[in-house]
Amino acid sequence: MVDATVGSVSEIGVLLRKYRVRAGLTQEELANRSGVSVRAISDMERGVARSPQRRTIDSLAGPLSLRSDEIAQLHKSARRSRAATPSGEPVTPRRIFDSPVVAQLPPDLHDLTGREQEIEQLRRCVETQVTGNRTGRVVVLSGAPGTGKTSLAIRAAHDLADHFPDGQMFLKLRGMSEEATSAADVLHLVLRSLGIDISSIPVELEHLAGLCRSLLAERAVLIVLDDAADEGQVRPLLVGGPRSLTLVTSRHVLAGLEGAGRLSLDVLAHHQAVALVGTIIGTDRVEAEAGVADELVELCGRLPLAIRIAANRLASRPAWPLSHLVSQLRGRSKRLRALTAGDLDIRSVFDLSYRQLRPITAAVFRRVALIPGSDFSVTTARVLLDARREDDIDLLLDELVDASLVQLAPAQGRYQLHDLLCEFAKDLLAEKEEPETVREVEKHLDHWLMEMATAAGRFFQPCADMETPPVATSCFDDALSARKWLEAEAGAWSGAIRRLAARGDHRRIVDLADAMCWYPEFGGTADLWYEVFDQAMHSAILLGSKKEEAARRN
Ligand SMILES: Nc1ncnc2c1ncn2[C@@H]1O[C@H](COP(=O)(O)OP(=O)(O)O)[C@@H](O)[C@H]1O
Ligand SMILES: [Mg+2]
Repeated sequence: MVDATVGSVSEIGVLLRKYRVRAGLTQEELANRSGVSVRAISDMERGVARSPQRRTIDSLAGPLSLRSDEIAQLHKSARRSRAATPSGEPVTPRRIFDSPVVAQLPPDLHDLTGREQEIEQLRRCVETQVTGNRTGRVVVLSGAPGTGKTSLAIRAAHDLADHFPDGQMFLKLRGMSEEATSAADVLHLVLRSLGIDISSIPVELEHLAGLCRSLLAERAVLIVLDDAADEGQVRPLLVGGPRSLTLVTSRHVLAGLEGAGRLSLDVLAHHQAVALVGTIIGTDRVEAEAGVADELVELCGRLPLAIRIAANRLASRPAWPLSHLVSQLRGRSKRLRALTAGDLDIRSVFDLSYRQLRPITAAVFRRVALIPGSDFSVTTARVLLDARREDDIDLLLDELVDASLVQLAPAQGRYQLHDLLCEFAKDLLAEKEEPETVREVEKHLDHWLMEMATAAGRFFQPCADMETPPVATSCFDDALSARKWLEAEAGAWSGAIRRLAARGDHRRIVDLADAMCWYPEFGGTADLWYEVFDQAMHSAILLGSKKEEAARRN
């Protein structure tokens, strides 16, 4: 499913988290020392609260050992948020033609390190495409998972934004996952973000592409297609006109896209990898143990993803010498090397951080890999735990974010798992949990998703048709919030349908399709509806009900 990037992590949230990690404090420790509640700190870091009061910032400054310029920056950022959202409502975007300007870029990585050469090469690549005056201007950024393609594409897109005043789109293609996004779904999202009403969006891929092309023909738009599976997925999405540019990231070079500019991203150069450790834990610590830092980055395969996880572990333990982590990593790397072959150094880095988690946090990490879709909410993650548990799932997820095992997603209040970490978490599930337990958790999650989706669908039935009136749930209580839930969680509930079908749990699918039959007029994409109703028809046949089947065929 397409992931609509709406809200974003706030600047103040990014800064606060950075300062807290630098101070080596957990949210609880900071709360105890500052008198600001854990909830308030968590909300600020996640961007839920974006404009804290002056005195809140002042209370945090001492325990975080902030310099005066850092305090001033926090105050400034809080003031900016207040000015931008006087009533807490999103700012209305400037309008061009008849549609809003699309500004979908996720926030830039504030501590992106190195890559100066690559940024320059990328800039030249874009220039060549632009001055070449081609109609299909495309640049492909390729490289192995975890090398920093997405981060670099986002940086480049922010840098280039001024050249594309009609908007910047960021679309997740999920090429590495089992459920890559269909081209039709992506184009549907492009049209929605251009302000096209859902009832005017065509169904056929060809028509979708045609409409996108004509709408974008005159505009200067930057389109980032993140994580493309192959050329076949990208080709129908090249809809930008002569003033637009498409920046694609992929683990493949996509040689079949003729005329595209290309840049391959490798792991970091040694000195840049060491610099990244310094950015995260402070250069003093790196300089104090220079030789050890050299070994640390090599143990991480100079892969930015692994370095970030290892260095965050050091950042939250200011008293640890680097050598302590390195000797742990050496031992683990040797042990894993004896067991398997492949990307072992990287695995050892993940494994070491994973082993330091509390059992409950480790369970959350393993189990969030069971949530289908590209990102997830706190509420969905909560379903994976035993309902009687008192633990606050927000805080557990924040612990995982602190360890860089889970990332904050661009959409506010949502989280995401990097593909490599998702594979790692799935392996852990197989290794650490009983297969029966995993099946039960997955089933429980799927049933909950179906229950919510079915309840949400009922909000769209016409009054005359209300055999089962809609009821409020903990996730939504009216048609608008039900629609938002269905859109944000489409990847999750459509994934649940596939798993239910594979398990032969057809009743729930038929019930969902029944409840949903009016919703397509309000949301979702043609591909999604085809999948839901086609599956529901098969399910009805398998349930052996002629009546159900007849209803589905209509
Ligand atoms: N140059 C860099 N400096 C700092 N962190 C980086 C850099 N490149 C990547 N990262 C970090 O590494 C992780 C993986 O990066 P990402 O861009 O998602 O990789 P990819 O898209 O190639 O899989 C992210 O946590 C990101 O913050
Ligand atoms: Mg990526």
